[in-house]
Amino acid sequence: MARSKVQFICQNCGAVSPRWQGRCESCGEWNTLVEEPESGGGGIGGGLKASSRRGRVLALEDLAGKSEDAPRRKTGIGEFDRVTGGGFVRGSAILIGGDPGIGKSTLLLQSSAALAASGERVVYVSGEEAVAQVRLRAERLGLGKAPLKLAAETSVEDILATLADGPAPALVIIDSIQTMWTAIAESAPGTVTQVRSAAQSLIRYAKQTGATVCLVGHVTKDGQIAGPRVVEHMVDAVLYFEGEGGQHYRILRAVKNRFGATDEIGVFEMTGRGLVEVPNPSELFLGERNSAAPGAAVFAGMEGSRPVLVEIQALVAPSPLGTPRRAVVGWDGNRLAMVLAVLESRCGVRFGGSDIYLNVAGGLRISEPAADLAVAAALVSSLSNTPLPPNSVYFGEVSLSGAIRPVPQAPARLKEAERLGFAGAVMPASSKDGAAARSSTSRGIEHLSQLVASIAAGRRTPPPRVHTPEEDEALES
Ligand code: TYD
Ligand code: MG
Repeated sequence: MARSKVQFICQNCGAVSPRWQGRCESCGEWNTLVEEPESGGGGIGGGLKASSRRGRVLALEDLAGKSEDAPRRKTGIGEFDRVTGGGFVRGSAILIGGDPGIGKSTLLLQSSAALAASGERVVYVSGEEAVAQVRLRAERLGLGKAPLKLAAETSVEDILATLADGPAPALVIIDSIQTMWTAIAESAPGTVTQVRSAAQSLIRYAKQTGATVCLVGHVTKDGQIAGPRVVEHMVDAVLYFEGEGGQHYRILRAVKNRFGATDEIGVFEMTGRGLVEVPNPSELFLGERNSAAPGAAVFAGMEGSRPVLVEIQALVAPSPLGTPRRAVVGWDGNRLAMVLAVLESRCGVRFGGSDIYLNVAGGLRISEPAADLAVAAALVSSLSNTPLPPNSVYFGEVSLSGAIRPVPQAPARLKEAERLGFAGAVMPASSKDGAAARSSTSRGIEHLSQLVASIAAGRRTPPPRVHTPEEDEALES
């Protein structure tokens, strides 16, 4: 085979260029092109010369044909199954990405052990840790007895031969895809060509045998799966495991799923004995709430099909700087700028010259526009130093005119709020009609200025607050 030519492959996006360039023309990243030999690496023929390969006649099938009756395998870990859309789909490939140390290996060890305990054959291949290390971790997680098969290996050919040797497994974990290495591709391990070829072989194995293949992928600091973004296109589902530094809970989020919704999240808590499911995230996110503090508003949000209450905290403070600071954690900075602009120009609230800090409690990241109203409430509350009513939730989208736009699934949000003891809600007037006014203390508003007026009214008649001795202590410490 003539393999004299070289090519340059972007290690970020996988684009191929015939010559070296400082900047990838496809994704715009700098210094990512690396010379790799041009080969059949991972190609469909797997090393066969194109000319020697005659086309094979395929048996075409009807769409209405019958497939196996149980296409999914549940791990029994509810939060994990929720994100995959109801369990692992037979013959599918899943990529699990996340920062190093976030708990990917722990999550997969726990879910694969749970699946193995239910009688399925599960193989866990670690390319990063020795068998003894995996075993130690399993013991610490209390999984020492799970009938899980282990291997510490990085050669894809050896792994596939091993898998073909025994009974077909239901689930294969590859931890991680960046450590895998295949002889089909000639590049060094860890390069895009290697990762793509290794992933291709493993994905082909999944399709052929009906096993589910789970690939672990490391994420770079800018949030992309290091190097092989190409793998994201090849797999059926991409899940991200994320958590804020210093927080002990972790969120599993689907960013691509050919077999389910992508807006579901699974919430876990990292404890000394591994990851523990959090079936009621609202209780966790509202755990240490001090409702008497100004600048805190409870947002009734939706994460997929599940309502989640979370506290939005704002701090508006006079700025010593010429250009005041705007710092946001867990929300979109541009959206904050928009809400501030609407409050200033449509409601006459002045923030000029103040530093503004906005934080979504508990490390959750919110992308719903429905959070606008809760953010506005927190901002106005902090600016006017007026605590919001302690038993009220907020949701609604703010438009540039200051009008409050309706948001979906108002009844589910209200129900979750009621369940957690929040009797009141401030919400879009049109959603309130739709929600059949189930909660008499909920208040539908049409314009943001109504919210500002009601917070100002709360300021004029301050509720008599009597601190309990415990509260006084808590405030002093
Ligand atoms: P790990 O699963 O090795 O992360 P990844 O595979 O994503 O790199 O998780 C490692 C971290 O999790 C480590 O910092 C310690 C912590 N951890 C616990 O807190 N409790 C536990 O029971 C385990 C196994 C890990
Ligand atoms: Mg790991």
